[in-house]
Amino acid sequence: MVGSVLMQRMQDEGDFDLINPVFFSTSNAGGDAPAFATGAGPLQDAYDVDALAKLPIIVTAQGGEYTAEIFPKLRAAGWDGIWIDAASTLRMEDDAIIVLDPVNREVIDAGLARGVKNFVGGNCTVSCMLMGLGGLFRNGLVEWGTSMTYQAASGGGARHMRELLNQFGALNAAVAPNLADPASAILEIDRAVLAQQKNPSMDSSQFGVPLAGSVIPWIDADLGNGMSKEEWKGGAETNKILGRGADGRIPFDGLCVRIGAMRSHSQALTLKLTEDLSVAEIEKIIDADNEWSKVVPNTKEATMAELTPVAVTGTLDIPVGRIRKLEMGPEYISAFTIGDQLLWGAAEPLRRMLRIATG
Ligand code: HSE
Repeated sequence: MVGSVLMQRMQDEGDFDLINPVFFSTSNAGGDAPAFATGAGPLQDAYDVDALAKLPIIVTAQGGEYTAEIFPKLRAAGWDGIWIDAASTLRMEDDAIIVLDPVNREVIDAGLARGVKNFVGGNCTVSCMLMGLGGLFRNGLVEWGTSMTYQAASGGGARHMRELLNQFGALNAAVAPNLADPASAILEIDRAVLAQQKNPSMDSSQFGVPLAGSVIPWIDADLGNGMSKEEWKGGAETNKILGRGADGRIPFDGLCVRIGAMRSHSQALTLKLTEDLSVAEIEKIIDADNEWSKVVPNTKEATMAELTPVAVTGTLDIPVGRIRKLEMGPEYISAFTIGDQLLWGAAEPLRRMLRIATG
């Protein structure tokens, strides 16, 4: 799914005009290359290390297992090209940079200058958060932060999105006649929905428990210390993207929650700032940081119109709203931000890194 979005974005932006692409497949070697890529030749075998090693740059969105299998073989074979992927496999390695160039272009440039060859897209929640609030972080204005996420089904993959929709359909089907009758009792409908959610016949194989009409406050592996891996990534990757080592680390932590949205991740943030800035100053810094971050006025009307997954999906905009001072003190603010998990959260940093790498 990320690969499809990536290829579409690369076509939209004319990226293929700047390179001589060779396409590889893990399942369809010998098949036709994408129709738009005239002259690219047939699909090659993505497990053919010798063929891969002929390339100066490899971009892959195949996933962590592929990276874990192929990347070490390529390097062992002496390949010293640039590797760009989206998997978490290499992200925290010392010789890898997490790419999010509107936020950390100087980290990327310094890495290229010292010969770094591995560039990895960040966790989607982290990338979307930093695209929105990067201005505050980059200006040293965040003392600490906490984020409570509302993560969409797409973060799990295409099958998770299908499962969510099938569950919504099953719930509706279970109560459709009653629902159509305005005189029916809502508590009876509610009982029937719950019975359907608990019915083992409803497929929850991807998420493990029903997500439709519910939430799942755990994403990714259990690290055994009360923390999910997704939550660990929030602090670890935020600091790595910002180029902050152990002594300059910004404490950043929170809970990650799966909700029944399709492909845009939302998050509610509490930040302690290093200074008592006015809301107007904060908004100006956020808005000015990059061309995609966009402050949504903290009104009910603007929030409902512009600050929902439905409003954001399919766009590169990263709206940031609900910015206000909290009762805890003048340095404490709230914010709510949303990003399309497949765009800034996955494909966009990769294609932009490819452009940087090709000069
Ligand atoms: N781990 C994320 C999620 C997706 O499950 O939503 C990719 O970063």
